Amino acid sequence: MKKASEPVYLMKLIKTSCFFGLFLLSQAYAGQEPITPIPNQVDVDNRKVQLGKKLFFDTRLSFDNSISCASCHDLETGFGADGKQFSDGVKGHQGTRNSPTVFNASLNFKQFWDGRANDLAGQARMPVTNPLEMGMASWTDVIAKLNKDAQYPQEFKAIFGGPISEDGIVAAIAEYEKTLITPNSPFDQFLLGNESAISKQQKQGYELFKTYGCVSCHQGKNVGGNMFQKIGVLKDINLQTGSLNEDLGRYLVTKNEWDKRVFKVPSLRLAVKTPPYFHDGSVKTIEKAVDIMIEFQLGRAVPESDRAAIISFLESLVGEIPEGVY
Ligand code: HEC
Ligand code: HEC
Repeated sequence: MKKASEPVYLMKLIKTSCFFGLFLLSQAYAGQEPITPIPNQVDVDNRKVQLGKKLFFDTRLSFDNSISCASCHDLETGFGADGKQFSDGVKGHQGTRNSPTVFNASLNFKQFWDGRANDLAGQARMPVTNPLEMGMASWTDVIAKLNKDAQYPQEFKAIFGGPISEDGIVAAIAEYEKTLITPNSPFDQFLLGNESAISKQQKQGYELFKTYGCVSCHQGKNVGGNMFQKIGVLKDINLQTGSLNEDLGRYLVTKNEWDKRVFKVPSLRLAVKTPPYFHDGSVKTIEKAVDIMIEFQLGRAVPESDRAAIISFLESLVGEIPEGVY
């Protein structure tokens, strides 16, 4: 993980020296890989994980028993997201942001596109009473419903030493989410020394990802998820793309002028598997998403063959879904 001071520093560097800054940054990584493997194992409390798993799939966490966390974060067929521009919440409501994957979310420094939750437990408190998502009137109502279950009361007592509580529910869900990682990708195998784990084009794509400067924002274990950056850092996104500029992102949390249109840099670990793209899910293909990055984050144009190599590299980031997580 990068130090907390780095994003601010990086932002200034990018703003003042444009892609010369990005070039310098990519050079600064020479000799040390800016992307690191996802660990194969995580240290978790198994009882909490099992409880959290049940809660994650439990529709009773929603107002009309129709929606669970898994409805919008489909682990089985959606790689932890739902493939829609905006998710369907209770009573047909829709929000204004695209559902990110929950896989590898534990590796992010903050949760949500605007980073308004500091950790997974803090994140899990929010959808349940969000009127557009699970729509429960209060946590008291959730707890009352779960208390009617044949097992939950005993399980909470055994694990947390007390009755069902909001804190216990979100702690168990967060513990379960720690197990939702995708280790052992071809690219991680390559990082660990297996030269033949990725193709020649993928190696070339990784080099381009570094030299073009993608890596100055998408880096670390999660190839993203460790800093905030503006969308349209080198070219104002307003000019070209309809709705992408409407959401003020981090500004809505901090009210700092410089946080307008700033978002958490998303992980690219499962990017090729989780269209549509960006906070508003407005972009359907990975090709178009990479083009937008090249134009607005790097302020340049890139030959078609380079773009293809970068996408081929992104494909090598897809790891394995551990057995038994759903
Ligand atoms: C109705 C759809 C919906 C439901 C139900 C839902 N989510 Fe989400 N989830 C979203 C959307 C949309 C976002 C992004 C919102 C934002 O950033 O403002 C999100 C964000 C997240 C994130 C942050 C990921 C990241 O990279 O920032 C996590 C973790 C997560 N949800 C877990 C959960 C859990 C746990 C539950 C159940 C308690 C849940 N979600 C229920 C749609 C949903
Ligand atoms: C200055 C920082 C920065 C640079 C440089 C950058 N990105 Fe991004 N990237 C972001 C941010 C911030 C977002 C989220 C923007 C949003 O949704 O509004 C993002 C989003 C993405 C997405 C969409 C992911 C998703 O799940 O929606 C892809 C794909 C992507 N970047 C690839 C790249 C590639 C490839 C490069 C290099 C050609 C690159 N990025 C360079 C900051 C950056």
